Amino acid sequence: MSPATLYDAINTLLFLRWGGSGRLRQALVDSLDVRPGQRVLELGCGTGQVTARLLAAGAEVCAVDRLDDMLAASRRRAPGATFVRGDVFEAEIGTNFDRVVLSFVLHSSESAGRLRLLRRAAAALGPGGSIGVLEWALPAGPLAGAAWRALLARLEPAPAGTQQILDGALGQEAARAGLRIASHRPLAGGRVQLLVLTPGAERAAADQQRPAAGAAVAPTGGTT
Ligand SMILES: C[S@@+](CC[C@H](N)C(=O)[O-])C[C@H]1O[C@@H](n2cnc3c(N)ncnc32)[C@H](O)[C@@H]1O
Repeated sequence: MSPATLYDAINTLLFLRWGGSGRLRQALVDSLDVRPGQRVLELGCGTGQVTARLLAAGAEVCAVDRLDDMLAASRRRAPGATFVRGDVFEAEIGTNFDRVVLSFVLHSSESAGRLRLLRRAAAALGPGGSIGVLEWALPAGPLAGAAWRALLARLEPAPAGTQQILDGALGQEAARAGLRIASHRPLAGGRVQLLVLTPGAERAAADQQRPAAGAAVAPTGGTT
């Protein structure tokens, strides 16, 4: 079984009880109020579960991932997107996006990396833009919490970042990246969190000062 197929299978099983993993991704897209023609940057697109839903909402999507197998699955699922094979920290992604999506990607890094990625996402936004984050969370109750923590410690290839996120690291990191939490809600019985982040007051004031920027930024290098 390829890593992409395994990824989708685990996701399906993990969230079966809460209506399936697709419901989580759809909630993310809905929370961002994506409109036809908007430009969306997706960092760490994996098998394209969010990518396809962004396209269905009418967005123009630029999706980045470093793994060929994931990109191949994503391309099959969302052929209308532009794909960039590369590192989310380094890839040429351009600016002026209406939305940036980070779906189950922040936990791959520890605090310094997450902060860097949140800042990168913020810098890629155009005026009025927002960032959607889907991440692990800890359900209420000691037994449910301990069981979920133990399961993710076994499942996740990046256990340290995952445990920090379970411990609530994201709120402070978003603030340090100059982002405001516009909304934050639990999904899947508290096992997942959905955040919408917007630039804080400083960036919003700077956006008001600058003339409207030209749109379209074609990614360069590594486009597949
Ligand atoms: C857990 S999967 C999430 C995939 C998808 N966003 C979703 O919601 O199903 C994380 C994805 O991010 C990619 N990824 C993690 N760190 C990355 C990095 N530094 N550069 C590029 N891709 C990265 C992985 O290859 C993987 O496909």
